[in-house]
Amino acid sequence: MQPWQYREGMLCCEAVPLATIAQEVGTPCYVYSLTAMRDQYRLLENSLQDVPHLICFALKACANLAILKIFIREGSGVDIVSGGELYRALAAGADPQKIVYAGVGKSEEEIAYALKSNILMFNVESPQELSLINRVAATLGVQARVALRINPEVDPKTHPYIATGLKQSKFGISLAEARELVRVGRGLSHIELAGVHCHIGSQITKLAPFVEAADKVAQFVRELQQAGIGIRYVNLGGGVGIAYNEESPPTLSEYAEAIRPIVTPLGCTLIVELGRSLVGNGGALITRVLYTKKTPVKNFLVVDAGMNDLIRPSLYRAYHAILPVDEAHQKEEPVVVDVVGPVCETGDFLAQDRPLPLLEPGELLAVMSAGAYGFCMASNYNARPRPPEVLVQGDRYWVIRERETYADLVRGETIPPCLQGG
Ligand SMILES: Cc1ncc(COP(=O)(O)O)c(C=O)c1O
Repeated sequence: MQPWQYREGMLCCEAVPLATIAQEVGTPCYVYSLTAMRDQYRLLENSLQDVPHLICFALKACANLAILKIFIREGSGVDIVSGGELYRALAAGADPQKIVYAGVGKSEEEIAYALKSNILMFNVESPQELSLINRVAATLGVQARVALRINPEVDPKTHPYIATGLKQSKFGISLAEARELVRVGRGLSHIELAGVHCHIGSQITKLAPFVEAADKVAQFVRELQQAGIGIRYVNLGGGVGIAYNEESPPTLSEYAEAIRPIVTPLGCTLIVELGRSLVGNGGALITRVLYTKKTPVKNFLVVDAGMNDLIRPSLYRAYHAILPVDEAHQKEEPVVVDVVGPVCETGDFLAQDRPLPLLEPGELLAVMSAGAYGFCMASNYNARPRPPEVLVQGDRYWVIRERETYADLVRGETIPPCLQGG
């Protein structure tokens, strides 16, 4: 399904004109297509049908409760990386036995919270973490199921900030260390070694790195199985890329085709933790032009969304297509502009040197492919309230997160007695 189309001259999400949403909830705002996200999930689910599997939606990509619920209702589990994400997953009604917990810095409190919540397993990232999980599990009188997150040293050919399976990366454990950790783990009374995990990075647009990593994981699983260790889960993480511009990433069925033959002979349950590919193209950030500005060397469109709302362009120099909401502008001769926000940073841009129609103040733009790592990376920098999120299905839409208020900005802050008065 193509959720973003011009209908009667106006860009719509499904059947709802974006201008209608902008009018009602204001700008900037995030808009998501329920159908597009659910279709992606169903495509993956159908493609994995003939292998025992569990899809764990990577909550970090888009964490709104309503978005989680779309996947949970389809039978999805959740991949989490913090106590806060566990709280969100449970609040959305996730089955704890479908929750997997990764991340290099799990605190003792977070581990205890996850054990008390009876999650499916931890993806363990270091020897010290394994012994802490054992200790906390012993205190609580429970068994902790774990997968070792191995670092397969595969180059995912993506932006260095989102490559996680390289030798120099902070994530995972080398194969040599994992072998040693298996030996240690077998002696820990409250650890059940149930799986092997890897996640090599994000926005990966070729199949080869996934296949290379899966082969390495499979080889290690076979080694453990031959040593009599009952590995039941193989978790290949997430990372499938989306088309932001001219990339042609594999479809989720091509991805499934590529990994299925590697995993099937192992007799394990396959876990995948996809985030971006399920939600990325299902979301857009709607923003309004505040000013047009010309300097001797540049044309600027100053819009009301900034790097605090969508940080990907500033952080990774990421490309997001930008479309005028009013189709009439598509016919105009484009000019090369920088689309910049109101934040007081030179790095505050949504696009640089981009051919766009020279819009007037008040006109709307849609920053496309903003469903993943968009709102969830938003901040209050420059004391800017975070934007609302809106979910569309067919010709209906709902505000699934309200715009923050100025009062929200100072919630929890206090002025100590020594500064009061005067
Ligand atoms: C451990 C883990 N699993 C899954 C994901 C999701 O990746 P993606 O959104 O690229 O599918 C991430 C993202 O960084 C991750 O760190």
